[in-house]
Amino acid sequence: MRQVIRDLPGSKIREVANAALGRSDVLPFWFGESDEATPAHIRDAAVKSLSAGETFYSHNLGLAELREALAHYASGLHRPIDASRIAVTSSGVNALMLAMQALVGAGDEVVAVTPVWPNLTAQPAILGARVVRLALRAERGTWRLDLDELRHTVTAHTRVLLINSPNNPTGWTLTRAEQEILLAHCRSTGTWIVADEVYERVYFAGVPGACAPSFLDIAEPDDRLLVVHSFSKSFLMTGWRLGWIVAPPGLGPELAKLIEFNTSCAPVFVQRAGLAALSQADTSVPELVGRLRACRDTLLPRLTALPGITVAEPAGGLYAFFSVEGESDSLALAKRLVAEAGLGLAPGAAFGPEGEGWLRWCFASRDPARLVVGVERLQRFLGL
Ligand SMILES: Cc1ncc(COP(=O)(O)O)c(C=O)c1O
Repeated sequence: MRQVIRDLPGSKIREVANAALGRSDVLPFWFGESDEATPAHIRDAAVKSLSAGETFYSHNLGLAELREALAHYASGLHRPIDASRIAVTSSGVNALMLAMQALVGAGDEVVAVTPVWPNLTAQPAILGARVVRLALRAERGTWRLDLDELRHTVTAHTRVLLINSPNNPTGWTLTRAEQEILLAHCRSTGTWIVADEVYERVYFAGVPGACAPSFLDIAEPDDRLLVVHSFSKSFLMTGWRLGWIVAPPGLGPELAKLIEFNTSCAPVFVQRAGLAALSQADTSVPELVGRLRACRDTLLPRLTALPGITVAEPAGGLYAFFSVEGESDSLALAKRLVAEAGLGLAPGAAFGPEGEGWLRWCFASRDPARLVVGVERLQRFLGL
């Protein structure tokens, strides 16, 4: 086994979840998904596809209908995007790995804005790249990017800037002005931007149904930009493993080769489910985000009211990221919360050293009352 694989850290979120194995009294908020099942019209489309015998390979880049539908969907949210620029992938995390494989080789420098979901930094490391962490800084619970530091860190030696906004775990979301600066800077250094925008629709600022600022709103088609998307979060489809990439024109055949050697294609019945999801996106996504907003608005004021807790309202994403005064070992704290309070949270250290001392609470739930019970458990644990 390559040393780089041996050196990969195991998931600290799993470590906490494993500590609760066999305990039905623990309320789990550790993973990044709702307890709400995928809507029926999406499940039905998959069943129909399987019943019709659609059990064969598809084109490497996905069904033509799905690529057209994704181009239409993305063009409605952003600047016009041609279907030839879309590659269907087997999940967002697969899209990220394909983006990395397409751009990064051994010894290349990748700058990642952190803290971040650990898969983003593990993937370039697996490929032998050198990952430089560019840390967001917390001020009273709100996370900010230092643009001067970014300009200093991303140089002509930087192959890829890896950025996830809205961010998992902090909820930090790039502003349009920041995006413009980043894009201009990366154009000047010749750096690719890999933008993980899987939470773009899970955005609470602006009018209902609004989308978080996206690089697809401002970039030219031939900019060095790969945008990674997923059906997981906006369509309640985490278990289906379906995502897509928006790439500059002309890269389709290259991505097709890479997909051939990774998964060959996404399963056709899953792609049919994706088509059904997109067909009702205009209503289903704003409704889902409305429910998620209710969850956020249940959890955040209750957390904020607790003495010793530092937290800010997230602009996007599924998470409240908070610190507890006097607690600096997030993994130990998360394990004690499981053992002593029956509360399952993700330790901030899972997202890198910048997240140490923090905890991540996924607030996506069918029933916001679960969140109220969770806060009561935290309150009791803290002796408040
Ligand atoms: C920031 C980020 N990117 C990508 C993904 C991947 O999503 P999936 O592989 O389920 O499509 C996740 C999932 O939690 C995530 O948090």
